[in-house]
Amino acid sequence: MNSDYQIGTTLITEEQSRHRASEIGHLITEEYKGEEVVFVGILKGAVLWLADVVKNVALDTKLDFMAVSSYGAETRTSGVVKIVKDLDSGIEGKNVIIVEDIVDSGITLNYLKGYLSGRNPKSLKICTLLDKPAGRRIEINADYVGFVVDDKFIIGYGLDYNQKYRNLPYISFLEE
Ligand code: IMP
Ligand code: MG
Repeated sequence: MNSDYQIGTTLITEEQSRHRASEIGHLITEEYKGEEVVFVGILKGAVLWLADVVKNVALDTKLDFMAVSSYGAETRTSGVVKIVKDLDSGIEGKNVIIVEDIVDSGITLNYLKGYLSGRNPKSLKICTLLDKPAGRRIEINADYVGFVVDDKFIIGYGLDYNQKYRNLPYISFLEE
């Protein structure tokens, strides 16, 4: 990838993602009625989505974050996942929802799911902003999916290319 790439057309507007975050936040509120939920945001891409979802969750919640790296400056996964920042608090006996920006190959989430279930949570679910099924190399499904996207390199609303474009309020893709 080089500087010949530019921002493509808008795939998902700010209004659409905010509306979807509200739907999912309300669904989580219904499904976990009376329970506490720990949201584990995966840095950095999930931060904007996590913020919009949790604003719509009317439960006792805690927020925690993990950072993993699987890519360098490439747009395809290297297949290797490394934990860069672990949880601050224990999750044993807790309802945990992993919040991710996008499921592409599935390698990252598959690894995280195994890692976190090893800590004996009461329940463990996945909430992803985007699902890119065409990229899948490991079978894994998210419980809450914002939007399904085509096999393009997505940017904006948290998603980056080389750390750029995370601040775009809308979701787009890199275009040559
Ligand atoms: P996976 O392990 O291949 O599922 O990749 C998951 C991670 O790769 C995501 O958390 C993103 O950080 C990154 N990623 C995958 N596809 C895209 C994309 O289209 N745009 C930006 N980042 C992506
Ligand atoms: Mg990510």
